[in-house]
Amino acid sequence: MTLAVSSVFSAACVRSAALAVLLERDPKAKAEAALALYARLMAGEAACLPSLAIDEPPGLPGRPARPQLVEPRLLQRRSMKSPEGRAVLLHALAHIEFNAINLALDAVWRFAGMPEAFYADWLKVASEEAHHFSLLVARLADYGHAYGDFPAHDGLWDMCERTRGDVLARMALVPRTLEARGLDASPPIRARLLQAGDHASAAILDVILRDEIGHVLIGNRWFRYVCDRQALDPHQAYLRLAEQYRAPKLRGPFNFDARREAGFDAAELAALAQQDSGADRREE
Ligand SMILES: [Fe+2]
Ligand SMILES: [Fe+2]
Repeated sequence: MTLAVSSVFSAACVRSAALAVLLERDPKAKAEAALALYARLMAGEAACLPSLAIDEPPGLPGRPARPQLVEPRLLQRRSMKSPEGRAVLLHALAHIEFNAINLALDAVWRFAGMPEAFYADWLKVASEEAHHFSLLVARLADYGHAYGDFPAHDGLWDMCERTRGDVLARMALVPRTLEARGLDASPPIRARLLQAGDHASAAILDVILRDEIGHVLIGNRWFRYVCDRQALDPHQAYLRLAEQYRAPKLRGPFNFDARREAGFDAAELAALAQQDSGADRREE
């Protein structure tokens, strides 16, 4: 039994156990432990201590020696018409899901003083990210590759570090910005996979998109909760945080249906629609 898995069964609180799983370096063990931790919580076999303040240990996040992490501009883009190109894409998606497991676990251990439902929500997200990771790694194996075979970038964990001190910024920048970008990115990738005849990979993207709508919804719920608690206007708070934490510029086309389902309100969707049509005009 790995350290992470044994911690799932022995830690006094799911938040400390989440930290142990975050420290786990082996991707397969981490994914299994994330699934087991949420299952224990749902079965009523694990306690949650919201007020527990936990010190940050060195070595976050636990990750394997490979993939090699490089700057995004150094990553190669390949046509999805070739099997190698599709393997590169599946690897990039698997890396995103591996990071997403870490991001969800980090929200659980790091931010004390939230309602118990906050921790249950983020453990659910961690378990679903673990499922996504496993699906992609299994599909990658069909192409003769494993996680770690290609280089990857570290942008997702970077945003996690930047927002380590503020749960409101974390909710604004990670689920409401980065995961929401995934909602926009999914349909064109899925279409290109189908075009290349890879129905099995496209079906995995369907599962991921359905779950990711739920993750962004969870992000929206807790973002608004903290805004309420601090008597902040959510629209103004988001704009301020996006600037302060250098959020990536959003670019269309946007997946408005998925974003609506994920809890963005009419004003937020209208602002995106305006930005989208502005971009169209500039391209003419
Ligand atoms: Fe995911
Ligand atoms: Fe997610």
